[in-house]
Amino acid sequence: MQAILGIDVGASGVKGALVDVNNGKLSGERFRVPTPQPSTPEALAGAFSEIVAFFNYKGPIGCGFPAIVKKGTALSAANIDKSWIGTSIEQTFGNACGCPVFATNDADAAGIAEMKFGVGKGEKGVTILITIGTGLGTVIFNNGVMLPNTELGHLIWKHGQAAERYCSSGARERLKISRREWADRFSEYLQHLEFLFSPDLFILGGGESKFFEQFKDQLQVKARVTPAKLLNNAGIIGAAVYAAEQ
Ligand code: BGC
Repeated sequence: MQAILGIDVGASGVKGALVDVNNGKLSGERFRVPTPQPSTPEALAGAFSEIVAFFNYKGPIGCGFPAIVKKGTALSAANIDKSWIGTSIEQTFGNACGCPVFATNDADAAGIAEMKFGVGKGEKGVTILITIGTGLGTVIFNNGVMLPNTELGHLIWKHGQAAERYCSSGARERLKISRREWADRFSEYLQHLEFLFSPDLFILGGGESKFFEQFKDQLQVKARVTPAKLLNNAGIIGAAVYAAEQ
């Protein structure tokens, strides 16, 4: 099968790569453009098309998107422009680049990739994958079956705020706290998820997972905790797999 273009739309960058969906490997380099601000549908469609043009690509495109996604439409907008709510991601990006686009939540995309090609492969029981970036993205699997759009980054946490306002990378930067202090906060969050869902495994993805060795000893939970094998490429790879499956 030809390589499929996977594009991971994030709050700070839009990243794309061609993916061999049979083995989950990138077939070449990644290309990234900064997320335009404000990140309106029109502006993001421009960034999306720039990536498609860079690869000179024609064909189905998978898109991981940082929102609740139902039938290709965004139903929330925590870290992107609010005008996305109710907007079809698939039509907006598809019309802009002239290719069929298949959109899913970004954490769900990362989960698809990790369960197929990464550390979640063959994993039985309950697995929770968390992408740690500007926000906190989450996805739950039970015996490999996904529960989509879980949004546990929006659990109401201290001071009535969403958990991602307390312990995402975005929160760490905004509050100017050290990675050590951040990791203690993140550990509290994991403990709460463990109490609610009794997972067997936590997989940590997103940009922060690159620093896993620095903070792993601070994570005080019973479940196994491991960094995503595909690191920050999981979203791109999972998006391409999602498109191939549609
Ligand atoms: C959004 C999620 C997304 C996560 C990671 C959250 O703010 O609500 O849909 O998966 O950020 O991008």
